[in-house]
Amino acid sequence: MEKEILKIKEEILFKAKKIKDFELLRDLETKYMGRKGEFTKVLRSLSGLSTEDKKKIGRLANTAKQEIASAFTELKNTLTGNEKESDFVDVTLPGKKEERGHKHPISILMGDLEDIFTSMGFMILDGPELESDFFNFEALNIPKTHPARDMQDTFYIDKPNKNGELDLVMRTHTSPVQIRAMREHGAPLRCIAQGRVFRNEAIDAVHDTTFDQIEGFMIGEDISLCNLVAVLKEMLSRVFKQEIKVRVRPGYFPFVEPGIEVDMSCTICGGSGCPSCKQIGWLEMIGAGMIHPKVLKYGGIDSEKYSGFAFGMGVTRLAMMKYGIDDIRLFNGSDMRFLKQF
Ligand code: PHE
Repeated sequence: MEKEILKIKEEILFKAKKIKDFELLRDLETKYMGRKGEFTKVLRSLSGLSTEDKKKIGRLANTAKQEIASAFTELKNTLTGNEKESDFVDVTLPGKKEERGHKHPISILMGDLEDIFTSMGFMILDGPELESDFFNFEALNIPKTHPARDMQDTFYIDKPNKNGELDLVMRTHTSPVQIRAMREHGAPLRCIAQGRVFRNEAIDAVHDTTFDQIEGFMIGEDISLCNLVAVLKEMLSRVFKQEIKVRVRPGYFPFVEPGIEVDMSCTICGGSGCPSCKQIGWLEMIGAGMIHPKVLKYGGIDSEKYSGFAFGMGVTRLAMMKYGIDDIRLFNGSDMRFLKQF
């Protein structure tokens, strides 16, 4: 009996030394000291002994029990100590620095343009980048067989639309939003729409297959080219934060009549001529004009009652001018050395 008690005690103390966490300690405690534990069983069996043996062995058993209990308490303390250590947070250590992104230069400029136009009462609209041939060309007075299609070659999608027809194109300009807006909101109307457009271009410093445009249009009774020029002059002056002069030349776009090209005075030389404006003093910036009656009709607007102007400008080109960037490829190039400058 005495031997048995000592053996179990040694066994427990030996196992306890190896324990590294609370869960194992709890298991060990239940295994030996629990209600049905092995050590408990031995203690219970003492009741069958003679009074003399009970005294002798009882004392031994009690000392063993105390030894085990204090070993367990000690072990618990060490384990708690360890745990406390791992929970400890050193708030004085330097933190991990997260890289923080910021807006792309095109997005910055688009935000500025939105502010400028909303302050003049224009709504901001959106249109799909994957557009139907109808909205991108047909409804803008560019019929299928018309040579004007050559002005804007694009990527035709060889996946049929919902009606099984092959008519999806990557939009070549933001002008299709004109038709969508007219159909949805009717006249009078004042909107801008900005976004990506796509063309089948040979890429070089000034041409890319993907770039950004802003479309603006205003439809009402008695809207004229004067309103158009005033709005564009205001917009350019606010973007460049200086008084900008504009000049108007005739230009051809099938969806406007008359059509014009709007040039702005060169911000670098102020109009006297420099390499940036190829010594002309003017920069070609915007295609515009009075919305063609056929286009108004496609949009469901009475062209006898209403007239309107429309313009389209490359936001990418505007950004190149504003920030003095000479290569369009930088905008979609993901070069951090370029992007970090904004
Ligand atoms: N959509 C034309 C282009 O991309 C620009 C434009 C818009 C011209 C509206 C006139 C009126 O070239």
